[in-house]
Amino acid sequence: MPHAKISALGCYVPSGVMTNQDLERIVDTSHDWIVERTGIEQRHIAPKDVATSDMAVEAARIVLEQRGIPANTVDAVLVCTVTPDMLFPATACLVQNRIGARGAWGFDLIAACSGFVFGLTTAAHFIMGGTHKRVLVIGADTMSRILNYKDRATCVLFGDAAGAVLVEATDDPAEAGFLGHLNEIDGSGGDFLRMPAGGSRMPASHDTIDQDMHSVHQEGQQVFKYAVRKMYEVSRDLLAKHNLTINDIAMLIPHQANRRIITAAADRLGIPPEKVLININRYGNTTGATIPLATRDAWTQGKIRKGDIVLFAAVGAGFTVGANLWRWQMDSPNGPPV
Ligand code: ACO
Repeated sequence: MPHAKISALGCYVPSGVMTNQDLERIVDTSHDWIVERTGIEQRHIAPKDVATSDMAVEAARIVLEQRGIPANTVDAVLVCTVTPDMLFPATACLVQNRIGARGAWGFDLIAACSGFVFGLTTAAHFIMGGTHKRVLVIGADTMSRILNYKDRATCVLFGDAAGAVLVEATDDPAEAGFLGHLNEIDGSGGDFLRMPAGGSRMPASHDTIDQDMHSVHQEGQQVFKYAVRKMYEVSRDLLAKHNLTINDIAMLIPHQANRRIITAAADRLGIPPEKVLININRYGNTTGATIPLATRDAWTQGKIRKGDIVLFAAVGAGFTVGANLWRWQMDSPNGPPV
């Protein structure tokens, strides 16, 4: 059976920065409140003419250039997003066409903040099934397009970005990357975090716009409590399933929703802070893109090296919950842009 490994990684972050001070000018909030309650200091916001596929294409191009392969050797393109350019065609089709991945198939994967972890799991199984050699997994979200900048409880939390990896086949067991997963969905929590309108239940109308139904609606404390508990449980159970302990892990790379969620889950796991990647201060919650962005930081800062075991964990709207164990198989970066 072939093994799956991550062989390239690239990210795209729009240059425009929105600081907490900028938010203070448009909504009743403060830098101190945001930092204390979330850990976020700034987030990047895409210009008006940039959509999710544009950022996804930039991240994908970095991956292809870094790996030095033509786009038409990619077998599948998965775009993990809750902010597609439009409901259809899938953003995966737009990206596939723009990068020139002729002959590939693919789809959009809607799992909110767990999207990228679900995408990694999916790609690994495509590879291990022997039917695919190269799968591009992209997490990309333009969250600023679905925020109500009058709702201080949600608009301060999110930012825009994209990140991508190439998941590739190898026959060499020493090169095996994917070790295992534990993913769940729990629709009983669906009402706590959602965008109510714009689908078949509540199509766009003057009323849905007047009632602000096309933006993120959230019961923050419910989401917070669930996220802490499940990020801990799914990580603990996945490690146990593979007879591993926290000592075997080089780095926990969690979804970046709230610094307090991450530290509470990490404390329960008993993992020391230096083994937990946190970069929410710079980017906020970029939904599908947080894990590739955090992985890039861990990799470029030398916190993960070839042979290390990495634990990815995420909780998101749905609810969706996912954890993956991967052995990192990339050499330390030596020049190419990531
Ligand atoms: N600035 C100032 N005050 C605020 C702000 C703000 N931006 N937002 C809320 N408040 C106020 C509230 O109105 C409330 O005031 P009140 O006591 O007068 O009623 C007070 O702060 C406390 O509100 P809480 O909602 O209890 O604040 P909490 O400490 O729970 O923090 C937060 C809110 C940050 C949203 C938190 O619940 C959270 O992070 N939840 C998880 C949400 C999340 O990350 N979702 C993203 C996707 S899902 C995922 O990724 C897991």
